[in-house]
Amino acid sequence: MDLRDRHVIVTGAARGIGAALSKAFHAAGARVVMADRDGLARAHDPLAGAVEVVADVSTEAGNMHLIDTARRAFGPVDLFFANAGVGYGGDPMTADEVWDDAFAVNFHAHRWAARLLLPEWLERGEGYFCSTASAAGLLAQIGSAPYSVTKHAAVAFAEWLSITYGARGIKVSCLCPQGVNTDMLNPRDEPDGPQAGALGRGDGGDVVRAAGAVLEPDEVAAVVLEAIEAERFLILPHPEVADYVRHKANDPDRWLSGMRKLQQRILGL
Ligand SMILES: NC(=O)c1ccc[n+]([C@@H]2O[C@H](COP(=O)([O-])OP(=O)(O)OC[C@H]3O[C@@H](n4cnc5c(N)ncnc54)[C@H](O)[C@@H]3O)[C@@H](O)[C@H]2O)c1
Repeated sequence: MDLRDRHVIVTGAARGIGAALSKAFHAAGARVVMADRDGLARAHDPLAGAVEVVADVSTEAGNMHLIDTARRAFGPVDLFFANAGVGYGGDPMTADEVWDDAFAVNFHAHRWAARLLLPEWLERGEGYFCSTASAAGLLAQIGSAPYSVTKHAAVAFAEWLSITYGARGIKVSCLCPQGVNTDMLNPRDEPDGPQAGALGRGDGGDVVRAAGAVLEPDEVAAVVLEAIEAERFLILPHPEVADYVRHKANDPDRWLSGMRKLQQRILGL
Protein backbone atom coordinates (compact mmCIF):
# COMPACT_ATOMS: atom_id res chain seq x y z
CA MET A 1 0.00 0.00 0.00
CA ASP A 2 1.21 3.46 -0.86
CA LEU A 3 0.60 5.43 2.33
CA ARG A 4 0.37 8.84 0.67
CA ASP A 5 -2.89 10.52 1.68
CA ARG A 6 -4.16 7.33 3.36
CA HIS A 7 -6.18 7.56 6.57
CA VAL A 8 -4.24 5.60 9.19
CA ILE A 9 -5.12 4.98 12.85
CA VAL A 10 -2.40 3.91 15.31
CA THR A 11 -3.27 2.79 18.85
CA GLY A 12 -0.79 2.96 21.72
CA ALA A 13 0.62 6.04 19.97
CA ALA A 14 1.63 8.12 23.01
CA ARG A 15 5.09 6.61 23.13
CA GLY A 16 7.31 3.73 22.07
CA ILE A 17 6.59 1.77 18.89
CA GLY A 18 3.20 3.47 18.33
CA ALA A 19 4.72 6.97 18.41
CA ALA A 20 7.48 5.88 16.00
CA LEU A 21 4.94 4.26 13.63
CA SER A 22 2.82 7.43 13.66
CA LYS A 23 5.87 9.55 12.84
CA ALA A 24 6.91 7.22 9.98
CA PHE A 25 3.39 7.06 8.48
CA HIS A 26 3.06 10.86 8.77
CA ALA A 27 6.42 11.32 7.01
CA ALA A 28 5.18 8.96 4.25
CA GLY A 29 2.25 11.35 3.64
CA ALA A 30 -0.54 9.56 5.56
CA ARG A 31 -3.30 11.37 7.44
CA VAL A 32 -2.64 9.96 10.90
CA VAL A 33 -4.94 9.48 13.90
CA MET A 34 -2.93 8.79 17.05
CA ALA A 35 -4.79 7.11 19.90
CA ASP A 36 -3.82 6.22 23.44
CA ARG A 37 -5.52 5.88 26.80
CA ASP A 38 -2.99 8.42 28.07
CA GLY A 39 -3.04 11.96 26.69
CA LEU A 40 -0.49 12.39 23.93
CA ALA A 41 0.55 16.02 24.11
CA ARG A 42 3.00 15.62 26.96
CA ALA A 43 4.62 12.49 25.51
CA HIS A 44 5.94 13.84 22.19
CA ASP A 45 5.98 16.78 19.79
CA PRO A 46 2.69 16.99 17.87
CA LEU A 47 2.76 15.90 14.21
CA ALA A 48 1.34 18.65 11.97
CA GLY A 49 -2.23 17.84 10.93
CA ALA A 50 -2.41 14.57 12.91
CA VAL A 51 -5.48 14.00 15.07
CA GLU A 52 -4.96 12.85 18.64
CA VAL A 53 -7.68 10.84 20.37
CA VAL A 54 -7.77 9.74 24.00
CA ALA A 55 -9.31 6.27 23.81
CA ASP A 56 -9.08 3.18 25.98
CA VAL A 57 -9.12 0.26 23.53
CA SER A 58 -9.68 -2.32 26.28
CA THR A 59 -13.45 -1.94 25.70
CA GLU A 60 -15.56 -2.13 22.56
CA ALA A 61 -16.95 1.33 23.41
CA GLY A 62 -13.40 2.72 23.46
CA ASN A 63 -12.73 1.33 19.98
CA MET A 64 -16.07 2.72 18.77
CA HIS A 65 -15.26 6.18 20.14
CA LEU A 66 -11.86 6.06 18.42
CA ILE A 67 -13.10 4.90 15.01
CA ASP A 68 -16.10 7.29 15.04
CA THR A 69 -13.82 10.23 15.90
CA ALA A 70 -11.33 9.23 13.20
CA ARG A 71 -14.08 8.89 10.56
CA ARG A 72 -15.44 12.33 11.47
CA ALA A 73 -11.95 13.81 11.02
CA PHE A 74 -10.72 12.04 7.88
CA GLY A 75 -13.57 9.90 6.43
CA PRO A 76 -13.19 6.17 5.71
CA VAL A 77 -10.28 4.44 7.44
CA ASP A 78 -7.66 2.90 5.12
CA LEU A 79 -5.32 1.28 7.62
CA PHE A 80 -5.83 0.42 11.29
CA PHE A 81 -2.76 -0.41 13.37
CA ALA A 82 -3.74 -2.22 16.59
CA ASN A 83 -0.49 -1.57 18.44
CA ALA A 84 -1.49 -0.79 22.06
CA GLY A 85 -0.31 -3.53 24.37
CA VAL A 86 0.31 -4.48 27.98
CA GLY A 87 3.15 -6.70 29.13
CA TYR A 88 2.26 -7.94 32.60
CA GLY A 89 4.32 -10.77 34.06
CA GLY A 90 2.24 -13.64 35.43
CA ASP A 91 1.32 -17.28 35.72
CA PRO A 92 -1.90 -19.27 36.30
CA MET A 93 -2.11 -17.92 39.89
CA THR A 94 -2.09 -14.30 38.69
CA ALA A 95 -5.30 -12.33 39.41
CA ASP A 96 -8.12 -12.59 36.88
CA GLU A 97 -8.12 -8.79 36.45
CA VAL A 98 -4.58 -8.96 35.04
CA TRP A 99 -5.47 -11.82 32.67
CA ASP A 100 -8.63 -9.95 31.63
CA ASP A 101 -6.76 -6.72 30.88
CA ALA A 102 -4.09 -8.63 28.92
CA PHE A 103 -6.79 -10.29 26.82
CA ALA A 104 -8.72 -7.03 26.41
CA VAL A 105 -5.79 -4.92 25.19
CA ASN A 106 -3.60 -7.51 23.45
CA PHE A 107 -6.37 -9.43 21.71
CA HIS A 108 -10.02 -8.30 22.09
CA ALA A 109 -9.13 -4.76 21.00
CA HIS A 110 -8.06 -6.23 17.64
CA ARG A 111 -11.32 -8.17 17.33
CA TRP A 112 -13.46 -5.13 18.23
CA ALA A 113 -11.64 -2.89 15.76
CA ALA A 114 -12.02 -5.51 13.01
CA ARG A 115 -15.73 -5.87 13.83
CA LEU A 116 -16.21 -2.10 13.41
CA LEU A 117 -14.10 -1.76 10.25
CA LEU A 118 -14.80 -4.89 8.21
CA PRO A 119 -18.32 -4.08 6.96
CA GLU A 120 -17.07 -0.84 5.35
CA TRP A 121 -13.87 -2.45 4.05
CA LEU A 122 -15.68 -5.42 2.50
CA GLU A 123 -18.10 -3.06 0.79
CA ARG A 124 -15.22 -1.00 -0.59
CA GLY A 125 -13.19 -4.14 -1.43
CA GLU A 126 -10.23 -2.57 0.36
CA GLY A 127 -8.81 -2.12 3.87
CA TYR A 128 -5.60 -2.84 5.75
CA PHE A 129 -5.46 -4.31 9.27
CA CYS A 130 -2.09 -4.38 11.04
CA SER A 131 -1.42 -5.59 14.53
CA THR A 132 1.53 -5.53 16.85
CA ALA A 133 1.82 -8.97 18.39
CA SER A 134 5.34 -10.02 19.40
CA ALA A 135 7.94 -12.72 18.84
CA ALA A 136 6.29 -14.07 22.03
CA GLY A 137 3.20 -14.71 19.89
CA LEU A 138 5.21 -17.08 17.68
CA LEU A 139 7.48 -18.47 20.42
CA ALA A 140 6.92 -17.76 24.15
CA GLN A 141 7.50 -15.07 26.77
CA ILE A 142 9.44 -16.53 29.68
CA GLY A 143 7.99 -15.12 32.92
CA SER A 144 4.61 -14.16 31.50
CA ALA A 145 1.82 -16.57 30.64
CA PRO A 146 -0.72 -13.75 29.98
CA TYR A 147 1.64 -12.10 27.48
CA SER A 148 2.52 -15.39 25.70
CA VAL A 149 -1.09 -16.51 25.41
CA THR A 150 -2.61 -13.19 24.34
CA LYS A 151 0.12 -12.49 21.77
CA HIS A 152 -0.43 -15.98 20.29
CA ALA A 153 -4.11 -15.03 20.06
CA ALA A 154 -3.18 -11.81 18.23
CA VAL A 155 -1.08 -13.72 15.68
CA ALA A 156 -3.79 -16.35 15.18
CA PHE A 157 -6.44 -13.65 14.68
CA ALA A 158 -4.32 -11.77 12.12
CA GLU A 159 -3.69 -15.02 10.20
CA TRP A 160 -7.40 -15.83 10.31
CA LEU A 161 -8.34 -12.39 8.96
CA SER A 162 -5.88 -12.77 6.10
CA ILE A 163 -7.11 -16.26 5.21
CA THR A 164 -10.79 -15.31 5.44
CA TYR A 165 -10.85 -11.91 3.76
CA GLY A 166 -7.62 -11.76 1.70
CA ALA A 167 -9.39 -12.69 -1.52
CA ARG A 168 -11.89 -9.85 -0.91
CA GLY A 169 -9.27 -7.09 -0.85
CA ILE A 170 -8.43 -7.02 2.86
CA LYS A 171 -4.69 -6.81 3.58
CA VAL A 172 -3.26 -7.92 6.91
CA SER A 173 0.18 -7.59 8.48
CA CYS A 174 1.39 -8.73 11.89
CA LEU A 175 4.42 -7.19 13.60
CA CYS A 176 6.39 -9.63 15.78
CA PRO A 177 9.46 -7.97 17.27
CA GLN A 178 11.75 -9.19 20.04
CA GLY A 179 13.20 -6.48 22.29
CA VAL A 180 12.46 -2.83 21.52
CA ASN A 181 13.78 0.01 23.67
CA THR A 182 10.48 1.36 25.07
CA ASP A 183 8.79 1.81 28.45
CA MET A 184 7.52 -1.76 28.20
CA LEU A 185 11.11 -2.91 28.74
CA ASN A 186 12.11 0.05 30.94
CA PRO A 187 9.05 0.81 33.10
CA ARG A 188 8.42 4.43 34.01
CA ASP A 189 8.30 5.32 37.69
CA GLU A 190 4.75 6.36 38.58
CA PRO A 191 3.38 7.69 41.90
CA ASP A 192 2.28 4.18 43.01
CA GLY A 193 5.52 2.47 41.93
CA PRO A 194 6.82 1.19 38.60
CA GLN A 195 4.41 1.44 35.63
CA ALA A 196 1.95 -1.46 35.50
CA GLY A 197 1.71 -3.51 32.33
CA ALA A 198 5.42 -3.57 31.55
CA LEU A 199 7.63 -6.63 31.19
CA GLY A 200 9.89 -4.85 33.58
CA ARG A 201 13.16 -5.09 35.37
CA GLY A 202 14.28 -8.27 37.09
CA ASP A 203 11.85 -10.55 35.25
CA GLY A 204 10.48 -10.82 31.69
CA GLY A 205 12.31 -7.66 30.60
CA ASP A 206 15.68 -9.22 31.48
CA VAL A 207 14.83 -12.28 29.42
CA VAL A 208 13.95 -10.09 26.43
CA ARG A 209 17.22 -8.17 26.77
CA ALA A 210 19.20 -11.45 27.02
CA ALA A 211 17.44 -12.98 24.00
CA GLY A 212 18.97 -10.65 21.40
CA ALA A 213 19.38 -7.13 20.09
CA VAL A 214 17.13 -4.44 21.54
CA LEU A 215 16.09 -2.20 18.62
CA GLU A 216 15.05 1.44 18.75
CA PRO A 217 11.35 2.16 17.94
CA ASP A 218 12.36 4.17 14.83
CA GLU A 219 14.27 1.14 13.47
CA VAL A 220 11.16 -1.00 13.92
CA ALA A 221 8.99 1.64 12.24
CA ALA A 222 11.28 1.71 9.18
CA VAL A 223 10.94 -2.09 8.79
CA VAL A 224 7.14 -1.81 9.18
CA LEU A 225 6.88 0.92 6.55
CA GLU A 226 8.74 -1.20 3.99
CA ALA A 227 6.60 -4.28 4.82
CA ILE A 228 3.34 -2.34 4.44
CA GLU A 229 4.48 -0.90 1.13
CA ALA A 230 5.21 -4.51 0.04
CA GLU A 231 1.96 -5.76 1.71
CA ARG A 232 3.87 -8.54 3.52
CA PHE A 233 2.03 -10.41 6.30
CA LEU A 234 4.71 -11.27 8.83
CA ILE A 235 6.94 -8.37 9.91
CA LEU A 236 10.09 -9.50 11.72
CA PRO A 237 12.38 -6.59 12.64
CA HIS A 238 14.63 -9.26 14.24
CA PRO A 239 15.06 -11.65 11.26
CA GLU A 240 16.52 -14.40 13.50
CA VAL A 241 12.99 -14.94 14.88
CA ALA A 242 12.24 -16.86 11.64
CA ASP A 243 15.07 -19.28 12.54
CA TYR A 244 13.69 -19.74 16.08
CA VAL A 245 10.25 -20.52 14.64
CA ARG A 246 11.83 -23.09 12.31
CA HIS A 247 13.71 -24.69 15.26
CA LYS A 248 10.48 -24.83 17.25
CA ALA A 249 8.59 -26.53 14.39
CA ASN A 250 11.43 -28.94 13.59
CA ASP A 251 11.95 -30.20 17.14
CA PRO A 252 9.51 -28.85 19.78
CA ASP A 253 11.06 -30.85 22.66
CA ARG A 254 14.52 -29.52 21.93
CA TRP A 255 13.13 -25.98 21.63
CA LEU A 256 11.30 -26.29 24.99
CA SER A 257 14.45 -27.65 26.63
CA GLY A 258 16.43 -24.66 25.29
CA MET A 259 13.78 -22.26 26.65
CA ARG A 260 13.99 -23.93 30.09
CA LYS A 261 17.75 -23.44 30.07
CA LEU A 262 17.33 -19.76 29.14
CA GLN A 263 14.83 -19.33 31.99
CA GLN A 264 17.23 -21.02 34.43
CA ARG A 265 20.15 -18.88 33.27
CA ILE A 266 18.32 -15.54 33.46
CA LEU A 267 15.74 -16.00 36.20
CA GLY A 268 17.28 -18.87 38.19
CA LEU A 269 14.01 -20.83 37.93
N1 LIG B 1 9.05 -3.22 23.68
C1 LIG B 1 9.21 -4.47 23.30
O1 LIG B 1 10.25 -5.09 23.56
C2 LIG B 1 8.10 -5.17 22.53
C3 LIG B 1 8.42 -6.39 21.90
C4 LIG B 1 7.43 -7.04 21.19
C5 LIG B 1 6.17 -6.49 21.08
N2 LIG B 1 5.89 -5.31 21.71
C6 LIG B 1 4.53 -4.78 21.58
O2 LIG B 1 4.61 -3.51 20.97
C7 LIG B 1 3.43 -2.76 21.27
C8 LIG B 1 3.82 -1.37 21.70
O3 LIG B 1 4.53 -1.46 22.93
P1 LIG B 1 5.78 -0.55 23.30
O4 LIG B 1 6.95 -1.44 23.41
O5 LIG B 1 5.83 0.64 22.40
O6 LIG B 1 5.39 -0.17 24.78
P2 LIG B 1 4.96 1.21 25.48
O7 LIG B 1 4.59 0.82 26.86
O8 LIG B 1 6.00 2.25 25.24
O9 LIG B 1 3.66 1.65 24.64
C9 LIG B 1 2.42 1.01 24.75
C10 LIG B 1 1.36 2.08 24.65
O10 LIG B 1 0.07 1.41 24.67
C11 LIG B 1 -0.80 2.22 25.44
N3 LIG B 1 -1.91 1.42 25.96
C12 LIG B 1 -1.88 0.40 26.85
N4 LIG B 1 -3.13 0.00 27.15
C13 LIG B 1 -3.97 0.77 26.42
C14 LIG B 1 -5.39 0.84 26.30
N5 LIG B 1 -6.18 0.05 27.03
N6 LIG B 1 -5.92 1.75 25.44
C15 LIG B 1 -5.12 2.58 24.72
N7 LIG B 1 -3.78 2.58 24.81
C16 LIG B 1 -3.21 1.68 25.65
C17 LIG B 1 0.08 2.75 26.58
O11 LIG B 1 -0.50 3.90 27.21
C18 LIG B 1 1.37 3.05 25.84
O12 LIG B 1 1.41 4.40 25.36
C19 LIG B 1 2.70 -3.57 22.35
O13 LIG B 1 1.63 -4.29 21.76
C20 LIG B 1 3.78 -4.52 22.84
O14 LIG B 1 3.24 -5.70 23.41
C21 LIG B 1 6.84 -4.64 22.41
